[in-house]
Amino acid sequence: MIVLDPQNNVFTLHTKHTTYQMKADQYRVLLHSYYGPRVRDGDLSYLIQYADRGASPNPNEAGHRRDYSLDTLPQEYSTCGVGDYRLPSIEFGPEDGSRLADLRYVNCQLVPGKYSLEGLPAFHGQGWETLSVILRDPSSGVEVELLYGVCEEDDLITRAARLTNRGSGDVRLCQAMSLCLDLSRADLDLITFDGGHVRERNLDRAPLRPGVQGVGSVRGTSSHQHNPFVILCDHDAGEDHGVCYGAALLYSGSFLAAVERSQFEDARLVMGIHPHHFRWALAPGESFTAPEAALVCSPDGLTPMTHRFHRAIREHLIQDPHAGARRPVLINNWEATEFDFDAERLVDIAREGAALGMELFVLDDGWFGCRDTDDNSLGDWFVNEKKLPGGLKYLADEVNKLGMKFGLWVEPEMVCPDSNLFRAHPDYALQIPGRPPMLSRTQLVLDLSRKEVRDCIYDQLRKVLSSANIEYVKWDMNRPLTDVASFCLEGERQGELFHRYVLGVYELQERMLTDFPHLLLENCASGGGRFDPGMLYYSPQIWTSDNMDVVERLRIQEGTALIYPLSTMGAHVAACPSHTNGRSTPFETRGLVSLPGCFGYELDLTKLTEEELAMIPGQLENYRKYGPVFHGGDYYRLASYGENGEYDALMSVSKDKRTAVLDYVHVMSRQRRRDVLLPLRGLDAEKRYRSSETGEIRSGAGWMYGGLLLPNMKGDFLGKLIVLEAV
Ligand code: GLA
Repeated sequence: MIVLDPQNNVFTLHTKHTTYQMKADQYRVLLHSYYGPRVRDGDLSYLIQYADRGASPNPNEAGHRRDYSLDTLPQEYSTCGVGDYRLPSIEFGPEDGSRLADLRYVNCQLVPGKYSLEGLPAFHGQGWETLSVILRDPSSGVEVELLYGVCEEDDLITRAARLTNRGSGDVRLCQAMSLCLDLSRADLDLITFDGGHVRERNLDRAPLRPGVQGVGSVRGTSSHQHNPFVILCDHDAGEDHGVCYGAALLYSGSFLAAVERSQFEDARLVMGIHPHHFRWALAPGESFTAPEAALVCSPDGLTPMTHRFHRAIREHLIQDPHAGARRPVLINNWEATEFDFDAERLVDIAREGAALGMELFVLDDGWFGCRDTDDNSLGDWFVNEKKLPGGLKYLADEVNKLGMKFGLWVEPEMVCPDSNLFRAHPDYALQIPGRPPMLSRTQLVLDLSRKEVRDCIYDQLRKVLSSANIEYVKWDMNRPLTDVASFCLEGERQGELFHRYVLGVYELQERMLTDFPHLLLENCASGGGRFDPGMLYYSPQIWTSDNMDVVERLRIQEGTALIYPLSTMGAHVAACPSHTNGRSTPFETRGLVSLPGCFGYELDLTKLTEEELAMIPGQLENYRKYGPVFHGGDYYRLASYGENGEYDALMSVSKDKRTAVLDYVHVMSRQRRRDVLLPLRGLDAEKRYRSSETGEIRSGAGWMYGGLLLPNMKGDFLGKLIVLEAV
């Protein structure tokens, strides 16, 4: 619910459990008064503290009033050059190079439903209200529209900013953040999700220290290294206690999430497109839209924050027809064959998979151009008939005859120097004229800011997708951006390229999904290098990591699932020893660790032992039965191997609280004198549940407050699935 008090210029956003408030003061500066647990009082601006802080500039209108400085007051969208020295949200200026933004409140408007952002991903659906607040910089005429989407039921507040040049001169934008959150306290921890290739989204937590800290990417993708999702929380916040603020950016390119603990012990979080190499020219009348950010405040710890993001992503971000649909069990040929395959080998793998009950065969890299190694042919999206006579149609038909769907890998954003496309159009690749561009995996990045480049790629893709019954696409992206220059942007406008590239990717995926609305799209970037909320608007699932070793996967999936629903995480059983770290683990445990995600296999089925093959029908049966509980229920972290060095446990409880599934992995054996005691969570205290493991029946209260005892297991990398059904 949005409540406007126009007399006092107080604007309040209420969700079911939280309240967010701002106030335009006597100088029409928009101040932030409160974000936290729901409060029914009207005006909370008594919380804004005025004091003479010394050495902090006072705006002209404040006259001799020394207790009024933008440097010390909580801002709703921080400015620059006018006395607030903390992190700015916006920076722009005229062509002469001066930079100053002094934003003052003009008016606001309540709009039913949810705003949308042209060309950018955004939350959507029913149950939203929008608040639009207009601020203006008096001297340049630049107008900033702050957009707030309120989803009361899911406790989600979204934000975006639209900047319009209403003045008469050209303006150059060098920073336009999506979110600014000023909190009048700094005794907080910052949680970020960091790592690298094959070790994505490892959780990192540290208290705020004085000054600026944060994460970001300047790679042109959201990156393996840092995720556009951060949490600020009480020092002692845990799963079910402590205030937590979660902030996520719906953006798949370079981003910045920075927090400043100021001299006055308050904290400012800004989040948005990374200002590095960012410029945007705004002629009079032109607008720029900063991508959407989403905020959740949980007064009761991390788990409720996770549940709110999971619900909102499942119900308001992922699009139909996949939103609530069960994802097919897939078999992907990559780790089985890499480039070494022909139609017969592929059909053999598919046949084997179909016989075991798998539902989707995915043909990975190596089917197009003359690609038998990874150093050529990207950009030439036509089938290699030497390898696949009869083309994709023959293969897809054969796969369909087996009762399976057919899916295909593509990497449309790239071009290899050794390709017909590059030979015909060398200017289609990002590069600085006169300087040989950097290669990575022997490939270059296409200049997707150019419509003719997007059209050329899309025409090829459309032909491929129309040539056979292709029902799934794995859209890969295997290198970061370098040499970020376009032949078609002039001078300073080259600074628009990083963002125009991302808009180009979004436009291509949008086009593909408009033409092929039933296609199941899975995004991927060398594993999980672009696992972000922006991508989830287009693809309901994302490849989590190229690392399929169970021990490392536990950590990667735990970090990922803090905000991203289990239904979005591609998780496959791979061959052992693991291709990434050489570890061997039991087939059964590999199945257990993948089970909560979008389940599949990525190995040569023809090389499995009889015992391993015999386990597959049971694994598929578990996915069919309990996948809906993992994907649609409430997820709980029970124990983290990263913390205890011994075992890992997660559980999911169905919405009606009749079924709970517990995924327990005994990673590393230790001599212990007692059984592992796991207090369960999320059950109905009054209901009685039977354990699939022992047949015992106890009340929900018993399982939760007493706990579940797991006798010690002998050996490493073992595990079990335990189901509790209400009786
Ligand atoms: C990337 C992906 C892999 C696979 C290869 C193919 O590394 O993450 O899953 O598709 O590309 O080249």
